[in-house]
Order: sequence, then C-alpha cells, then structure tokens
Amino acid sequence: MTGVLTPSDYIAVAATSAGINAAARPCRIGPFQLASPAMQAGLAGYSDMAMRVVARRRGCPYAVTEALLDRVIITGGRGREKRSILCLTDHPVAGQIMGSEPQEMAQAARILLESGFDVIDLNFACPVKKVMGRCRGGYLLSDPDEAIRIMRAVRAVVPGPLTMKLRRALDESSEAAENFDRIFGEAVALEFAAMAVHGRTVEQKYTGKADWEFLRTVKARYPGMTLFGSGDVFTAQDAVRMYHSTGVDGVWIARGAIGNPWIFREFAALMAGRPALDPPTIYEQRDGLMEHFALAVEIYGEEQAARQMRKIGIKYSRLHPQGADVWRAFIAVKSQAHWDSVLDRYYSCDGPGRAGESVPDAQDLYKDTSCESHAESTAC
Ligand SMILES: Cc1cc2nc3c(=O)[nH]c(=O)nc-3n(C[C@H](O)[C@H](O)[C@H](O)COP(=O)(O)O)c2cc1C
Repeated sequence: MTGVLTPSDYIAVAATSAGINAAARPCRIGPFQLASPAMQAGLAGYSDMAMRVVARRRGCPYAVTEALLDRVIITGGRGREKRSILCLTDHPVAGQIMGSEPQEMAQAARILLESGFDVIDLNFACPVKKVMGRCRGGYLLSDPDEAIRIMRAVRAVVPGPLTMKLRRALDESSEAAENFDRIFGEAVALEFAAMAVHGRTVEQKYTGKADWEFLRTVKARYPGMTLFGSGDVFTAQDAVRMYHSTGVDGVWIARGAIGNPWIFREFAALMAGRPALDPPTIYEQRDGLMEHFALAVEIYGEEQAARQMRKIGIKYSRLHPQGADVWRAFIAVKSQAHWDSVLDRYYSCDGPGRAGESVPDAQDLYKDTSCESHAESTAC
C-alpha cells in the first residue's frame, strides 16, 4: 500500500475524484487544486494515516498530520514511525512540524520531504503548556524574531509548498496583534502556499468562541494568500457558513471530523447546492469503522490499534441511534475480537443513522490523547 506519487498524479487524483466544485472558488495549495475547499485538520492523537484515508474516501481532498516534534523526526523516535507511514491514497498530504530551533526545524522538513510528504506545515499554534514552555507551537506568536528565523530556515530547504498553522494571536494585547501581522507578512514575503488560522488566541485555548470576523479581515488584507479558517466547525453547515461569511479559501475541519468522516461528503453536497444529506446509515457507519480499524492495525498492530480505536469508536457512537449504549461498548474494547463483537451487536442491522448532536469537547479529546505527555516526545 505504501508508495510515492508525483505532483501531477495528485492533481489528476484530486481533479477526478470528486470533480471541481463549481460553487466554490478555486482552492489551491501550491500545485494542488482541491476538489472541495475543505481539509482534514491536524489533530494530535487522531489525524494519523487511518483517519486521513477514511476521510479522503468520503470526500476530503487534503489532510495534515498531527504536529510532529522536529527532534523526534530527526532522531527517529515515535514520530518517525508515524511519518514513515504514507500510502498511495493519502495525497496530497502535509507533514506538520513543531519545534523551536531553526536548523532543527529545517532538517526535519527535509526529512519529511524525502519521505514523500507533499507539503510542509509549521505549527505556531499549539497552546499546550509543555509545548509553550519549550518555546514551541503557540509560543512562537510571542517571539516573531525567532518565528521568522524558523520560517526562513525552513523556506531555504523546502522548494515546494510550505504552509503554516497559527492562532489569531497570543492574547488580546496590541503587541500580540502586531506579532501576528509580522509573522503573516513574512509568510507572504516568503511565498508560503497557504495559511491556516484558528480564530482563538493561544491564551484562550479552547474556551470562548472562535472569532470568524478576524478570519474575514485577514482574507480581505491578504487576498492573494490561500487562507484556511479554523475554529468551531462542528457540522457541514458550520463549514459552509464559515466559507461564505468569511471569504476564506477553505475550511480546516477538526473536532467536527472526529468520528464523523461523512462531514466531508456532506460539505461537498451543500457547497454544490444540493440538499443536506441524511446522516450515514448504520451499514455506512459499520464500513467506516471497519476501514478505520483495519488501517489502524496496519499502522500500530492489533493490540495498539484496539487501544487507539477505543477512543475513536466512542466518537463514532454519536451517529448511532443507541449512542449511549454503543459508547459504553466501545469504551471497554481491548482487542480486535472485542471490537468485532461491538460491531456485530450494534451494527449488523441496517437503519438510519442519527445526526451527530454534540461534538467532542477539546478537553476530553486531549485527555484521550494524553496530549501533555505526547508533547514531550511526539506531537502536540
Ligand atoms: C485533541 C486536539 C488535538 C489537536 N492537535 C492539533 C495538531 O496536532 N496540529 C494542529 O495544527 N492543530 C491541532 N489542534 C487544533 C485543531 O486542528 C483546530 O485548529 C481546533 O480544534 C479548532 O477547530 P474546531 O473548533 O473546529 O475543533 C488540535 C485540537 C484538538 C482538540
């Protein structure tokens, strides 16, 4: 299943898979024109190859890895195994790097490119305490000189598309707003291919509402830069609203896609002016769960896949009419046999699915992911 495509292959794949959506403005990331203006967001502990491929099969044209620590990429720790797993259908894909030292970031970028990633994405957004304490992620929004040194060092070794994920500022101060402008302006000068902006400050973490008006002003100020908007996109309808109300070129779908890869096909349908789709049927959900598990086994082996999929299964459960029971069944999963028995019990009779009523809360997701400890070694 592993393999590397050339850029022209990806363009062909992207153009033929879903058809360029006439209702949308063209959404380009360097040489890649996306069939639909949405992407699978970077999500620590979730957006591995399995999640990305399951999403792509349901209309997602582009995806980014979770934040990978530069040092781990260089020294070949846990992140290295993950990044080495790319497959033919997982393109175009961005490898997201997080770090604090310009030359290490550049070296990590080079390694990811050699491994077959199409786009390099810099994480200047992560608000996790340990990440900030090590001058990585969202911290860099408080140190524009260092941020710019990193951007230039990485640019020097990445001839192709380079992108960045950032938040709208470190905090609400005017100094923080100026720092954002300097960093964004430098990205324009260095010809970054796209920017993804989360409409919360780093200080906010996940509290309060994402500021979509901020996204609108950024797009108006930098009309030539491909801009992805992030924050509070929980349903396909939210994604359409963000797209039209802010003028962003694409929507970065994060929590809304965990356990609901069908959000991408629904978004594409709404963007094409078609009526809202029914929620995925029980059989469609079963197929998604089976695919996700099989891909997770490819990455982690059976035992670890069962642990990983337990936290994913509970997110899928919100689309099931007996959601609470399914949630309880998935949370107890310890093996593939156990996983299969949950599918046999709850997914062997077809029927209508339920529209996902609530999206996973960020704090719960971080708990599931043990993000704080990940931040030490692998990812944000
Ligand atoms: C559990 C979790 C892990 C995340 N990991 C990453 C990451 O590795 N890289 C990244 O750029 N953003 C990461 N984010 C931020 C999301 O991509 C997104 O910007 C944020 O959740 C706001 O979008 P939403 O409100 O629609 O979920 C993470 C968010 C959550 C909840």
